Amino acid sequence: MWISATEKKRLERAARKAVRQSYFPYSGYPVGAAVLTGRRKIFSGCNVENASYGLTNCAERTAIFKAVSEGQRTVTAVCIYVPAGRPATPCGACRQVIREFGPHAEVVCVSPGHAPIEMTLDELLPRSFGPEALAPRTDAPAGKRKR
Ligand code: THU
Repeated sequence: MWISATEKKRLERAARKAVRQSYFPYSGYPVGAAVLTGRRKIFSGCNVENASYGLTNCAERTAIFKAVSEGQRTVTAVCIYVPAGRPATPCGACRQVIREFGPHAEVVCVSPGHAPIEMTLDELLPRSFGPEALAPRTDAPAGKRKR
């Protein structure tokens, strides 16, 4: 999905600011993210780790959940900022969460001193599963549909 150069800059700035709040005592790997919604609003987030490691929330999902909980359900673009290291593309779980609200979202992965990686969600998660698959079935008699 198309975003302007100005929007991309704003998005990256928001992701860079968000990484300051990252809670990463276990991995030592801070991440900031920001999403641009269909209504052109920006929501940012960071990774939030947990002593029960599996409960960690990635920066991308933090940002998306913030947007959705504020009433925004379309993701146009996502920026992921890793301050120390190479640009990181979203993990599998985050790709699926982006897919829910931005099946064609632009994903920009940024780290200082490296060329950014820019891809679309379709490229990152081809042949993906999404909400349409769960649309009401029309091939079963009404009385036999699962509830
Ligand atoms: N992480 C993110 O926040 N986003 C990614 O795309 C990759 C991984 C976080 C999760 C965990 O806190 C740390 O990075 C190391 O996996």
